[in-house]
Amino acid sequence: MTDPLLGWRTEFPIVDTCTYLVSHSLGAMPRRASAYLQQFADEWSRRGVRAWHDGWWEIGRTTGDLLAPILGVPTGTISMHQNVTVAQSIVASCFRYDGPRRKIVLTDLEFPSNMYLFEGFRRYGAEIAYVPSDDGIRNDTERLLDAIDERTVLVPLSLVLFKSSCLQDARAIIEKAHRVGAHVILDVYQAAGAVPLDLESLGTDFAVGGSVKWLCGGPGAGYLYVRPDVARALEPGIVGWAAHAAPFEFETGAIRYADAPERFQSGTPNVPSLYSARAGYEIVGQIGVDAIRRKSLTLTRRLIELARQGGYRVNTPLEDAERGGAVIVDVPNGQAVADELIRREVIVDYRPGAGIRMAPHFYNTMEEVEHAMRVLGEITANTAGRSLESPPVRAGESM
Ligand SMILES: Cc1ncc(COP(=O)(O)O)c(C=O)c1O
Repeated sequence: MTDPLLGWRTEFPIVDTCTYLVSHSLGAMPRRASAYLQQFADEWSRRGVRAWHDGWWEIGRTTGDLLAPILGVPTGTISMHQNVTVAQSIVASCFRYDGPRRKIVLTDLEFPSNMYLFEGFRRYGAEIAYVPSDDGIRNDTERLLDAIDERTVLVPLSLVLFKSSCLQDARAIIEKAHRVGAHVILDVYQAAGAVPLDLESLGTDFAVGGSVKWLCGGPGAGYLYVRPDVARALEPGIVGWAAHAAPFEFETGAIRYADAPERFQSGTPNVPSLYSARAGYEIVGQIGVDAIRRKSLTLTRRLIELARQGGYRVNTPLEDAERGGAVIVDVPNGQAVADELIRREVIVDYRPGAGIRMAPHFYNTMEEVEHAMRVLGEITANTAGRSLESPPVRAGESM
């Protein structure tokens, strides 16, 4: 039976040039993204400053509205930002850390940037509590639930862990946080576009993410969802004129907040990035994340099967219900093996302490998955017992 999702391959030029299995890091660029970027350039060139009135000024809201169904949230609840770090900073600036409720609970499997940011809040009085994982693959949910108490202000939590692709039980954590008066910031970066999301019914206070990975939207299009009832009560400390109720009045002094989602904006929107992101959102929305997930599970199941047949350690949950879109295969000399895979046009990445991350998306074929595992087998057979020299880390390599 032919796979209808393969009809999308012609929209992604890179899949004709290599075996592209790295959508957990940088999703393939849709052709349509070039067209949107050209549209941006044409508008800038032809309309000049008048382009702000032709949709540029509102582009944060309109882009967020395009993303809303993919996240499973109502329109008018998402603001757009440079990246996750900025979006989380704005959330963090809504709270105080000098009273009894000052604890931020993080797991040691979070993306490091999430730690760096909140570590910085110690200077405002925040205490950071890290919940350790036993196996480096999944969090101990009970331990995490125990760490969340009446002193907790924020629980920043990745729905899918970047290192292991483990899909977490966010519902239980959100329920516990709410029971004790804490807020949850769900980082859905590794989930959005690969795992169906219904964030409204999950009840999370905040969600953050970006567009570089499974959404095929390119860099510079981070997003922040704030639950409407929570948004009404919040006044971010990090704000700019785009968050003002009447930005073009240029009032001086303290801000008069706009309603959400604009009250979470900072300054001038990142217009070209939001044009390029649109293409990926449209395509993911048109296919539907349910169909993407069904295909993803079929391909990752096969990948895991082949990895285990090859005798490799798999650092990703084997159960479908516990797995995001990537599979992490641990091999000796992982960095050098990943580098050799890339040299042979099988595009993957490697993370220390985890392994080689491989991620088929809707535009990949079963043959590509099998080819990648065959090439991996050849490389590891040739290098068995030999210490490959690790290549230098390349500057600017993506997450
Ligand atoms: C789960 C997760 N959160 C956050 C980030 C980093 O986000 P940003 O660079 O947009 O701040 C990444 C990047 O890989 C990630 O995987």
